[in-house]
Amino acid sequence: MADLLPGMNTQLRRPTSKASIVETRRFYRQQRRALSPEQQVKAARQLVKHCQQQPQFQSAHKVALYLANDGELDPHPLIEHCWQANKDVYLPVLHPFCAGYLVFVHYGPETLMQANRFGIPEPKVECHRLCPIEQLDILFTPLVAFDTKGNRLGMGGGFYDRTLKPVYQRPKPTLIGLAHDCQQADSLPVQPWDIPLQKILTPTQEFNL
Ligand SMILES: Nc1ncnc2c1ncn2[C@@H]1O[C@H](COP(=O)(O)OP(=O)(O)O)[C@@H](O)[C@H]1O
Ligand SMILES: [Mg+2]
Repeated sequence: MADLLPGMNTQLRRPTSKASIVETRRFYRQQRRALSPEQQVKAARQLVKHCQQQPQFQSAHKVALYLANDGELDPHPLIEHCWQANKDVYLPVLHPFCAGYLVFVHYGPETLMQANRFGIPEPKVECHRLCPIEQLDILFTPLVAFDTKGNRLGMGGGFYDRTLKPVYQRPKPTLIGLAHDCQQADSLPVQPWDIPLQKILTPTQEFNL
């Protein structure tokens, strides 16, 4: 299986209809954490090539990404590509006043970072570096698992669901999930507050909803 694509192992995909959400989360987190550093690097590079082929990405000026945590598909090479292409990159930051919400703060090569309460580095919140969410062209989200209907299972904090509710089905931003191939579920349980994705990109595949 030397040419197996990073994260691609359909035998490990698991139907979720009867499984609890907690078990499903645990299963897919374990899948992505089991990827080797080499698989992670290859997947991250493939993601850049895949995004470069997307007309929507080519024309985007303001792009929200994230810093990888817990085995997530690493968007850092994509962030560096955005910097070189003169796109403005924003990262999610825990809202300083509204618990459970995110704000998006400009991120450049020189930005000073500080760890949030989950240990994830964030840019410091400064008013002039904030981007109102409806001004973002594309908002790329991490996820724990996805299905081909655009359903997204996150880490369980509901941060993206809360934050995206006001802009759901508005012209901007386009909501795109980034994931390893091994994060694809046959179907995911959906909660009333879950905000679905418009597109999911993996290193090898693209799902449009
Ligand atoms: N728009 C919202 N308003 C209030 N609470 C929300 C909203 N969206 C999500 N939540 C809460 O966040 C929690 C986690 O959401 P969930 O969808 O399970 O996590 P995730 O999307 O990270 O997988 C839920 O208990 C839910 O009650
Ligand atoms: Mg959710």
